[in-house]
Amino acid sequence: MTDQKPADMNDVAPTALKDLVGQRGVVDQVAVALEAANADGKKMDHALLVGPPGMGKTALARVVASEMGTELHGVLGQSLVASSDLNALLLGARNKDIIHVDEAHELDREYQTALYLALDQRKVLLQGRTKSGPQSIPLADFTLLLSTTDEYGLLQPLRDRMKLTLRFEFYKPEDLASVVRMRSRALGWDVDDDVLPLIARRARGTPRLALRLLQSCRRVCRAEAETAITHRHLLRACDLEGIDEIGLGPTEQQYLTALADGTTRLNVVASLLGLPARTVSQVVEPFLLRLGFVVKDDQGRRELTAKGRAHLSNRGNNPV
Ligand SMILES: Nc1ncnc2c1ncn2[C@@H]1O[C@H](COP(=O)(O)OP(=O)(O)OP(=O)(O)O)[C@@H](O)[C@H]1O
Ligand SMILES: [Mg+2]
Repeated sequence: MTDQKPADMNDVAPTALKDLVGQRGVVDQVAVALEAANADGKKMDHALLVGPPGMGKTALARVVASEMGTELHGVLGQSLVASSDLNALLLGARNKDIIHVDEAHELDREYQTALYLALDQRKVLLQGRTKSGPQSIPLADFTLLLSTTDEYGLLQPLRDRMKLTLRFEFYKPEDLASVVRMRSRALGWDVDDDVLPLIARRARGTPRLALRLLQSCRRVCRAEAETAITHRHLLRACDLEGIDEIGLGPTEQQYLTALADGTTRLNVVASLLGLPARTVSQVVEPFLLRLGFVVKDDQGRRELTAKGRAHLSNRGNNPV
């Protein structure tokens, strides 16, 4: 690797819509919204980005800002802890800028309300600035992007003000292989071609996991003072991290084990895993449901399917 090559994964993250791999539905919706905004010389419509972690919501927010040629103002929902934080965020944006609130369902209800009122009135009220009472300050015409794993954790009036809903789906293995290929090329990392689909297969439909596994492979490769990432490095990386042949990590494996004795309630599974129930249902379960390893009912009960049971009993017998 030469000195000019960027060393960090996110230094080479996508900046244009055409660099985003897969996720056609979302990308097409955004392409139309950007074209409409350009044709009218206006900002892009506000959008709600919904999907499991690591699927590219923040990446899309970056891309939208760079396609609009404007600035991205990104915050985490839980980091807004005072009205002044929200006001500073809103007042910091200029026309057509992008405000991205990640994990928007963590935003306190009080601030969710303040946010939709600010969108309606296109102004904020600053308390105690003048003796004559609160001061009203107009807001620029920005685009609000709200990212969430849990759209119903947002107040309905705020949700209703988002003109677009962008639903992120799990990626196909061939798309994940492309994400890994593009990123390794941009980083100047040499990866054997046969390793790409194997990384993709272990990434649970999620670009972040594919890239994390690429990074783990690279770590093993460099620790062995080698330059090209091979199948052997991948096997060692998976072994070190407890990732099985379809990409399930220790938490997913514990989840399946927790259901081995029969139907189990979500809160029981969550306490066995030592995780909040919400994390289990929004982060751990979606891919297992997609795989058809688990079914859930309206009463909060979870059950392994024959497929899930077969995977559990084959554990350790499958070639990685
Ligand atoms: N469609 C894509 N094409 C190329 N790279 C992608 C794509 N989607 C995501 N990535 C890359 O995958 C990584 C994870 O994406 P990102 O951080 O945007 O996920 P996220 O949905 O915002 O996750 P979280 O819910 O945890 O905030 C980033 O390095 C990003 O650049
Ligand atoms: Mg994000």
